[in-house]
Amino acid sequence: MYRLILIASVFLSNSLMASHHEPVEDVGLTFEDKLAACSACHGVNGDQPLMPEYPILSGQYQDYLEVALTAYKTGRRQHMIMNMQVQALALTDADISKLAAYFASKPGLIGLGE
Ligand code: HEC
Repeated sequence: MYRLILIASVFLSNSLMASHHEPVEDVGLTFEDKLAACSACHGVNGDQPLMPEYPILSGQYQDYLEVALTAYKTGRRQHMIMNMQVQALALTDADISKLAAYFASKPGLIGLGE
């Protein structure tokens, strides 16, 4: 839990500092840096959520994940953590497509219980 609060507060302070700039600025993070941030909460493959109520990303449809991330970016979908993530990591549309493709390509959980 401490780790989660730490992550959240780092991203919150980043996003507050970023609020005077363009919606998507270069925050000096590589795609791998951004992916590592996602993995901290969702797991490396998107199938090991940090908290049981966090969603599984692996095996979801790429276009669904893209729509969800875009909605967090525009604010149409509201969830403090994810709205902050998208802003603090300065996800571009290209990042969103790549992240969605990455997690969609990982095996989903269907059939694991068999
Ligand atoms: C601090 C923890 C945390 C981090 C870091 C994080 N997420 Fe999330 N993510 C969540 C939580 C919590 C939710 C559930 C939000 C909701 O209910 O809308 C979520 C929801 C999502 C969803 C919606 C899934 C669905 O089934 O509708 C997607 C897609 C997603 N995250 C992708 C990402 C990506 C990509 C990154 C990295 C850029 C990322 N997340 C970083 C915690 C996190």
